[in-house]
Amino acid sequence: MVKNRKKLAWGARGRRFKSSHPDFFLFLILWFFAIVSLKANDKVHLDSLSIYDPKLCAEVLDAADLSSLWNSFLEGQAHLFFGQEADWLSGKREWVESQNVLELGSGNGSYLSRLSEAFSEKKFLGLEIQPSLVEQSKASFARPGLFFVAGDAEEFHEEYRNQFDVVLYRLTLQHLKEPRLSLKLAHEYLKEGGHVFIIEACDAAKVSSHRIHSFEEASRQQNRTSSKGNRRISMEILNELQDEASFYQIAHTSLDVNGNRLEKGIRFESEEDRKRYFNHALLFLSILKKGYGVLVDLSEAYSELQVYLEDENSWVCPGIHLLVLRKI
Ligand SMILES: C[S@@+](CC[C@H](N)C(=O)[O-])C[C@H]1O[C@@H](n2cnc3c(N)ncnc32)[C@H](O)[C@@H]1O
Repeated sequence: MVKNRKKLAWGARGRRFKSSHPDFFLFLILWFFAIVSLKANDKVHLDSLSIYDPKLCAEVLDAADLSSLWNSFLEGQAHLFFGQEADWLSGKREWVESQNVLELGSGNGSYLSRLSEAFSEKKFLGLEIQPSLVEQSKASFARPGLFFVAGDAEEFHEEYRNQFDVVLYRLTLQHLKEPRLSLKLAHEYLKEGGHVFIIEACDAAKVSSHRIHSFEEASRQQNRTSSKGNRRISMEILNELQDEASFYQIAHTSLDVNGNRLEKGIRFESEEDRKRYFNHALLFLSILKKGYGVLVDLSEAYSELQVYLEDENSWVCPGIHLLVLRKI
């Protein structure tokens, strides 16, 4: 009944509006702005999921497409981790003295863009396998000293031979089919005495004040169903480099071979960081759900993760590991 009434009202309006009538143009303009502001609001809400209640949040996440989820996730992740990772890098002579940096797997470019702002004296090139992400990175961030190019980190690029002081893998090594091959190629891209910087997540090193069961269960499911996302890869590389004579030497590691912390490491405990982590974890779970078919109850996850919003004594060490390898 209500629907019919709506239809009639629209029908009556439609008959009254002639396309030459000034009201018609006003109506079109208002409609256009309504659509644009709806789109803009969608984006803002994916970055601030705590404004929703658990049920509505789950609906918003389920309605979002995978590429918007990835985008908000990568942007939020760059923001959340950046300050503490930049402190790590600033404390490493190998990084401070470098001039040319190649990032393999630069995603949507948000992280590399932050690096280029913080270390503006260096030149950065991001290589990424997904052309759409390269286009997006170029459109959003390319500027003098920061370049993006489409390419495969598991194929050799002759033009990069002996060109870089640092090759960076940030949360990318775990996604490669042949990470060891890529590291061999990176060796060719490095100048004499250059370094590989690996910033990678390591499950064994992830600890927090509270157990989030939905998160643990989703990670277990993903590890079972997918050969991708090996979050032990940096530990495996560390192990192999200690055993064998290799073309790299370990210059620094923040974890030992069993995933025990050798230094303070990254920890989210401020109110702002806990809020960002809440958002980050929910986006991560929805990506697992939509992109990998993992079964996740998002409203339950929300309720569990709420502890990071409410308890000021809660904290998370995300298990991020820094491994620096010297070319020999
Ligand atoms: C988790 S994202 C990390 C993005 C970025 N490094 C960051 O920290 O935000 C991993 C990226 O590696 C890219 N990737 C995966 N395999 C690749 C390959 N063989 N060559 C280049 N990039 C690759 C993916 O497309 C994805 O954008």
